[in-house]
Amino acid sequence: MLRSFLIIVGLFASLAFSSASAAPFNEGFRKCGECHEAEVEVWKQTKHAKSYNEVHKKEEAAKILAAVGGPNNMRQNPTCVTCHYTETKASESAKPQVATGPSCESCHGASSEWREIHNNYGDGIKDASKEAPAHKAKRIADATKAGMIWSFMTYDVASNCMSCHGLAQSKISGDTLDKMLDAGHPGEPEFELVRNSQGTVRHRFYPPNVNVNAEMTPAELSRLFIVGQAAALVSATGAVAKATHPKYVALQKKREQDARAALQGVADVPEVKALLAAPSHEAGRKLADALKGKDLSAKVKLPAKSTYK
Ligand code: HEC
Ligand code: HEC
Ligand code: HEC
Ligand code: HEC
Repeated sequence: MLRSFLIIVGLFASLAFSSASAAPFNEGFRKCGECHEAEVEVWKQTKHAKSYNEVHKKEEAAKILAAVGGPNNMRQNPTCVTCHYTETKASESAKPQVATGPSCESCHGASSEWREIHNNYGDGIKDASKEAPAHKAKRIADATKAGMIWSFMTYDVASNCMSCHGLAQSKISGDTLDKMLDAGHPGEPEFELVRNSQGTVRHRFYPPNVNVNAEMTPAELSRLFIVGQAAALVSATGAVAKATHPKYVALQKKREQDARAALQGVADVPEVKALLAAPSHEAGRKLADALKGKDLSAKVKLPAKSTYK
C-alpha cells in the first residue's frame, strides 16, 4: 500500500518536472522592440497594427458578431480575438490582455518559452560571428521546439498566414466559420503570399546591411510564390475535407483550384508533383527545402509590384 502510494507520488513528481515548460504565451511587441526597433517601425505602418483602432468600427462587424454569438465586443469575443488581436500576458500568472492587432508573435510564435533562447550566442558571447556552429544549431533547434517560427521556415510562415487568412482556422468550429461567411466576413480566396508579404509587411533587415529593408530578388520571389501556393493548397484541402456548408465548400474549392492552377508551371518539380497528389504540411515543408537556392521565376507568374499590399 505505502509502496504503491510512493510510486504514485514519484510519478506525479516526475510528471511535474517533465512538464516544466509551461504553455507558451504572447509577451507583446514592446518586448521585441527592445532589440528589434526597425521591425516595430515597419509593423506600425501595417494594417495588422492599424486595424486595432479600426476594424470594430466597420459596419459589417456588428452583423458578424451577432451571427457568431458571444460577447458583442470584438476585443472580448474569443472567436474574433483568435485572428484579429494579440492576447498578451506579462507573466504566466498574469491576466491576459488584448491591446494590439496581429503582431510579431502572431507570425513568429508566442515567445514566452523561446525569447531567451533565440538570441543567446553562448556564455559571454555578444558577437554572432563568434558563436560556435554547434551552439547555433542547438539554439535554432531549441527555439523552434519552444515554438519560434524563424524567417527561414518559409512553409511554416506561409501556413501560419493561412491560419488567419482564408477562413480555415482549425481552432474555430466549422459551424462558426460558416456563420461568419454567411454574415459577410471576407473569405479571401485571392490571398497570395508575395503580394501580401512584400508590400507594407516586408521587413528584411539582414546582415551585412542591417539598416536596409531589402527587397527580394526574382529568384527569392519565385520560391516564396510557390511556397505560398503550397500552403494555400494544404489549408484549402484540409478545410474542405471537414466542410458541408455549400458556400464554405465553394470558397475552399476555389482556393484549392487557384493554388493548383498556379503550381502548374512547376508541376515537373518532383516535390510539387508529390504535393499536388497528396497535399500535407510534410509535403509542403519538403517542397520548401527542395527549392532552396533555385530560381523558378521564368516558370511562375509573379504578381506585379504595383499590386503589392
Ligand atoms: C534582447 C534582445 C532581443 C529581444 C528582446 C528579441 N530579440 Fe529577436 N533577435 C535578437 C538577436 C540578437 C537576433 C539574431 C540572432 C541570430 O543571429 O540568429 C534575433 C533574431 C530574431 C529573429 C530571426 C531572424 C532570422 O534571421 O530568422 C526573429 C524572427 C526574431 N528575433 C523575433 C523576435 C521577436 C518576435 C521578439 C519578441 C517576442 C524578439 N525577437 C525579441 C535579439 C532580440
Ligand atoms: C479565421 C480568422 C478570423 C476570424 C476568426 C475572424 N476574422 Fe475577421 N478578418 C480576418 C482577416 C484575415 C480579415 C482581412 C480580410 C481582408 O483583408 O480581406 C478580416 C476582416 C474582417 C472585417 C473587414 C475589415 C475591413 O478592413 O474591411 C471585419 C468587419 C471582420 N473581419 C470582423 C470579424 C469579427 C466581428 C469576428 C469575430 C466574430 C472576426 N472577424 C473573426 C480573419 C478573421
Ligand atoms: C505578418 C507576419 C509577420 C509579422 C506581424 C511580423 N513578422 Fe517578422 N517576419 C515575417 C516574415 C515572413 C519574415 C521573413 C522575411 C524574409 O526573410 O523574407 C520575417 C522576418 C523577421 C526577422 C528577420 C529579418 C529582419 O528584419 O531582421 C525579424 C528579426 C523579425 N521578423 C522580427 C519581427 C518583429 C520584432 C515583429 C513585430 C514588430 C515582426 N517580426 C512581425 C513575418 C512577420
Ligand atoms: C493572427 C492572424 C493573422 C496572421 C497570422 C496573419 N494575418 Fe494578415 N491580417 C489579419 C487580419 C485580422 C487582417 C485584417 C485587418 C483588418 O482588415 O482590419 C490582416 C490583414 C493583412 C493585410 C492587409 C490586407 C489589405 O487588404 O490591406 C496583409 C497584407 C496581411 N494581413 C498579410 C499577412 C501575411 C503575409 C501573413 C503571414 C506572413 C499574415 N498576414 C498573417 C490576421 C492575420
